[in-house]
Amino acid sequence: MKRLVVVISGRGSNLGAMLAAIRRHAWPIEIVNVISNQPLAEGLALARTAGLRTTVIDHAHFTDRAHFDAALADEIDRAAPDLIALAGFMRILTSEFCLRFAGRLVNIHPSLLPAFKGMHTHRQALHAGVTIHGCTVHMVTTDLDHGPIIAQGIVPVKATDDADQLAERVLEMEHQLYPMAIAALLSGRVSFADGRRHESGPGQFPCEYSPWLLHPDL
Ligand code: GRF
Repeated sequence: MKRLVVVISGRGSNLGAMLAAIRRHAWPIEIVNVISNQPLAEGLALARTAGLRTTVIDHAHFTDRAHFDAALADEIDRAAPDLIALAGFMRILTSEFCLRFAGRLVNIHPSLLPAFKGMHTHRQALHAGVTIHGCTVHMVTTDLDHGPIIAQGIVPVKATDDADQLAERVLEMEHQLYPMAIAALLSGRVSFADGRRHESGPGQFPCEYSPWLLHPDL
């Protein structure tokens, strides 16, 4: 069994999508801890209902970012994960944290990186007038919203879209993309050497992998 830790701050819909995909495909992946910095995160309830172990590390109880990150890192280490997935985790991590888990830390960002880093990505996309938008699963490095790309999901931007409609379309794509990328990494189908992506054979367990997924309207 591969061990996965999921770190959240809110709703946890990506966590839900991971759980569903793990079950549907019978991937040998166990979510060994769901950690939230927000005690009231909806995703915690979802995790508990699914019988998963949960931990709250409330950032408000720490004097600074470094102490919070150290506590988070220690909790992650206790779970001995093969991979740590940030899923709607709304805090910037220190370089120390990113380096400690280098090669095992992944994130999903709601844009086609390197476009539209940071917050309000859907508003940024509409403002820029792009005709395609999407989401990116990437390895986490010390640079914010940067790092080797595992996979991208591409969705159309429709002329009538507002930011919420676009966010909804991107979120559906996130729910397909993130579980696929996690399975590809944990199976060893995808790996990184010298910062470049390598696709190597069938991997330790069967899973589909594509470096991009296209929305059906494209
Ligand atoms: C997603 O759009 C993710 O890309 C972003 O925050 C949102 C989290 O959604 N970083 P959820 O908590 O997984 O529902």
